[in-house]
Amino acid sequence: FQTPLLIPPVMPKAGTIVARGGKNVDYYEISVRQFPQQILPAGLPATTVWGYGAVAAAKKRGLLLHNAPSLTIESRWNRPVRIKWINDLVDEHGNHLQHLLPVDPTLHWANPPGGVDGRDSRPTFDSTPDAYDGPVPIVTHLHGAAGVGDESDGYPEAWYLPATGDIPAGFATEGTWYEFFAGKASAEHAVDWGPGYAVFHYPNDQRESTLWYHDHTLGMTRLNVYAGPAGFFLVRGGPEGSDAVLDSRSGATAVLPGPAPKEDDKFPPNKTYYEIPIAVQDRSFNADGSLFYPDTRVFFDGIVGDYIPLGEFSPIWNPEFFGNMIMANGNTWPFQVVEQRRYRLRFLNGCQSRFLILDFSAIPGAEVWQIGNEGGYLAAPVNLTADHGGRLLMGLSERADLIVDFTGVPVGSYILGNVGPDEPFGGGVPGVDFEPSDAASTGQVMEFRVVPAVEPDPTTPPQYLVLPARTPLPAETFTRPLALIEKSAIGFDADGQPVEGPSEAVLGIVDDGVPVPRDWDDDVTDNPQVGDTEVWEFVNTTGDAHPMHIHEAAFEVVGREGLVLDDEGEVAVPVLPDGSVRPPEPWETGVKDSVISYPGEVTRVRLTFARPGQFVWHCHIVEHEDNEMMRPYRIGPEQP
Ligand code: C2O
Ligand code: CU
Repeated sequence: FQTPLLIPPVMPKAGTIVARGGKNVDYYEISVRQFPQQILPAGLPATTVWGYGAVAAAKKRGLLLHNAPSLTIESRWNRPVRIKWINDLVDEHGNHLQHLLPVDPTLHWANPPGGVDGRDSRPTFDSTPDAYDGPVPIVTHLHGAAGVGDESDGYPEAWYLPATGDIPAGFATEGTWYEFFAGKASAEHAVDWGPGYAVFHYPNDQRESTLWYHDHTLGMTRLNVYAGPAGFFLVRGGPEGSDAVLDSRSGATAVLPGPAPKEDDKFPPNKTYYEIPIAVQDRSFNADGSLFYPDTRVFFDGIVGDYIPLGEFSPIWNPEFFGNMIMANGNTWPFQVVEQRRYRLRFLNGCQSRFLILDFSAIPGAEVWQIGNEGGYLAAPVNLTADHGGRLLMGLSERADLIVDFTGVPVGSYILGNVGPDEPFGGGVPGVDFEPSDAASTGQVMEFRVVPAVEPDPTTPPQYLVLPARTPLPAETFTRPLALIEKSAIGFDADGQPVEGPSEAVLGIVDDGVPVPRDWDDDVTDNPQVGDTEVWEFVNTTGDAHPMHIHEAAFEVVGREGLVLDDEGEVAVPVLPDGSVRPPEPWETGVKDSVISYPGEVTRVRLTFARPGQFVWHCHIVEHEDNEMMRPYRIGPEQP
């Protein structure tokens, strides 16, 4: 705990423009660049990373404006945001950079060089493919954005390379959907896409909420995000915003802890922030400070000998990755000085595969309340300290808007712990159902250094907060079962005989009770119409929990139900719910965009589809998402 927590500054705007229809739009120009960052404590080597930053301001204020995590985009409800996303992964000579991490060309991936079936080179009996070393495709997704046109959603096959003169001949410079969406963007928003950039438009008319933005390139998201590009995007205001949070004692608007950083604040800041977003991510490093990410399947699965380089499965990709260090806002194990008063902390689980269970129980006298999740405020504040042991489970990509009250905490230094597992998560209780994270490393997130308050705390105690009411979604007209399936890959032994390879989790449909895998490349099977309300059922027949995320529409969690198991304890086929229904957790009220689907259960969410287009749903274990745990879905008529 040597480095102060970095509180991400606010992303500077490039200006205001007037959109079609006359609305004022906040306009940004944001590029992804490579730069060195001191992630490890001072004295240890710096790390080369990528991050998003504001193009114009970066000239003025230097690399501080390209940070990982990137700067926070502060937006107002009902005021659209338009962003020119620039792929600037080039060196000082303007030549393309290579990836910092090993890209597996045998996955179904962006694949600029092209190749059979979208796969550059499946391994054969006597070849192990080299990791891809060409120019890097990117495409940005605003995670949690609802009601966005599909051209602006960061479709995984709408990636683009940097605009440089040294793209090898024969390479595709854009993904297969880029041109179609570029045409749509120009027709709908009169914006141009050009070499190395795309302009996305966000209507921003959803509830006040904590969104985040990150790369979403097909088959490379795990690597692109691990290299750094991710940041917070906050929507503030509107009828379900903080002005509508009331103090039950007076009926007046409540006072929530603030301020958060503002656009014009200096960096490093000369003021104190009481509202802070905190991205928790796991990373590993080589001795020279560079990011470590495995370059062979041997790393996780231990697959050697007969299997590698043989078979149909991917030899570089790993099914999960658990970094051995915890990074909060871009530094390993930082500290934050806090006064004896209330803070608003918005946590994001931005790890690769790691479910976090944040543990505040080692901070004596702290009282932790959750007031919001991905899609805005909960139905009512949840006292995590009194009712949940000071612990908070966070699936990958989930956000938690917390009020942490340090008023009663004695002056001193305390550790925010993590008791989630250092391996895949199946649900259950730490220490009972699984071993908690290593207490000396990944079991620690950051340190709070508690000092006396400088002024009386003006904020409303959380137990008096009345959170804004929300109109529930209409009743569903259709229930759509979706399958999470464990699928064995086929390998070949040295004589070319097929043998069972490692198993990988994939998605699919449920056909007459039978889970049937469907690849990314298969036809769209999920096609609600505009205006429809559906219940989606995540039928998890795998052995692990998966954090399921749906683009475009925020959902209500309906609840969970067990599935009938067979004699071996596996989900019986045809799949059948067993009647043991559970309501959503108290922190799953309001609306969400990601939900944990536990093994042996069906998890139900309800959502309404407002706008036509081609979107995706996927598991947010980014290693899974990159290898067939993502499916396209379409709202409304087929795309031309
Ligand atoms: Cu955070 Cu589809 O992603
Ligand atoms: Cu998964």
